[in-house]
Amino acid sequence: MDLKQSLFITDIAQLVTRPGHKAARGRDEMGNIGVIPGPAAVLVREGTITHVGSMADSARWDTAGVPTLDASGCTLLPGFVDSHTHLVFGGYREEEFQWRLAGDSYMSIMQRGGGIANTMKATRAASQQDLYTRAAEHLKAMMSMGVTTAEAKSGYGMELQTELKQLQVVEQLAQTQPVELVSTFMGAHDTPPEFKGNPDGYITYLCNDVLPQVAQVAANGHRPAEFCDIFTEEGVFDHAQTRKLLTRAKELGLKVKMHADEIVSFGGAELAAELGCTSADHLLQISPRGIAALAASDTVATTLPCTAFSLKAPYAPARAMIDAGCAVAVASDLNPGSCFSSSVPLMFALATIYMGMTIEEAITALTLNGAAAVGRAHLIGSIEPGKQADFALLRFPSYRFLSYHFGVNLVTATIKRGVVYRNELTRQPASLPL
Ligand code: NIG
Ligand code: FE
Repeated sequence: MDLKQSLFITDIAQLVTRPGHKAARGRDEMGNIGVIPGPAAVLVREGTITHVGSMADSARWDTAGVPTLDASGCTLLPGFVDSHTHLVFGGYREEEFQWRLAGDSYMSIMQRGGGIANTMKATRAASQQDLYTRAAEHLKAMMSMGVTTAEAKSGYGMELQTELKQLQVVEQLAQTQPVELVSTFMGAHDTPPEFKGNPDGYITYLCNDVLPQVAQVAANGHRPAEFCDIFTEEGVFDHAQTRKLLTRAKELGLKVKMHADEIVSFGGAELAAELGCTSADHLLQISPRGIAALAASDTVATTLPCTAFSLKAPYAPARAMIDAGCAVAVASDLNPGSCFSSSVPLMFALATIYMGMTIEEAITALTLNGAAAVGRAHLIGSIEPGKQADFALLRFPSYRFLSYHFGVNLVTATIKRGVVYRNELTRQPASLPL
């Protein structure tokens, strides 16, 4: 959706600018979030930020005729970027969740024909309209928590038509609702029944018959997918299969990502760095060599703490990765199996309480570094002139409430390209002087 508006945001109690046009890496860059104390102001012209400063500075800006938003008592941050979701899917797997609570493992359910294959059946059977309606509901909830951009993967078709159906749903959502979407082709999510026991044959099929179509530039200049992703994991896809698929994807003009080192330590992070992946995601089992490889590369290390929480698995070593100089992002991994949640409050809580990140680092991870993880750090992820006017407005006067007041949605309005979407449930700013 391409709505753009002009907007003058006044009397902001605290303004987090999180400046930068590329990923922030390491303790210093990730921790330095550029706070302007209140009262502060931001001017937006036609969806783009033109001025950022104090209320006193704003007396010199030309704000004539621009609608005003009074942000007294509130904190303004860059809109959150959820850089990893499996947004479009049919069916649910609530039964498997109960099995896991009772001690069953994610991989053993998958090997018995449940898991991704279960969702594949429901997604193949679903109409495009049903997939659209359900994904739209999720996006609405995400937007109410301050998300202004989200990545969305295919990967529950595992054959050409259903993969294209999922990507068409993403395109339809991009045109009809405000959250900006980044589409990823993830046909290599698992080996489908048609290629049972033959993952090599399936990868060859994806390279020859599917990738050329999902990478094809349409008349409007868009490709069905911008990224290609793969589940590189013991018993799913190995290094050679990953290398073959992602090399072909890059030849066809796609950017690449990997689900890496999620269940076992598999050298995934090292391979992601070698292949020039924009991001390597999960990393629960990343090795010290993997950390060093990501720190020396431009690949964003994307952690998905809600998945670790839901799988009762160890969290990715975010503290060690940041201290080694990695650019760390945090995203939801919303999907019907390993993580049926897109909760921004939960991400902040887990990142700060269990992954050892400071609240400043967690904010960077969900804004600028999330933007970098979808190749958009030059356009979004910070509040500075020239960037898109995408913001989350909190009803508390300090960003620190994001970890302190945990598990609660603090977002009172989400602003996309200058258009204000108020969150009716959290409308009033909490009038706490600080
Ligand atoms: O990121 N690990 C692979 N894919 C998803 C889970 C997908 C599913 O279980 O439906 C993940 O965890
Ligand atoms: Fe995932």
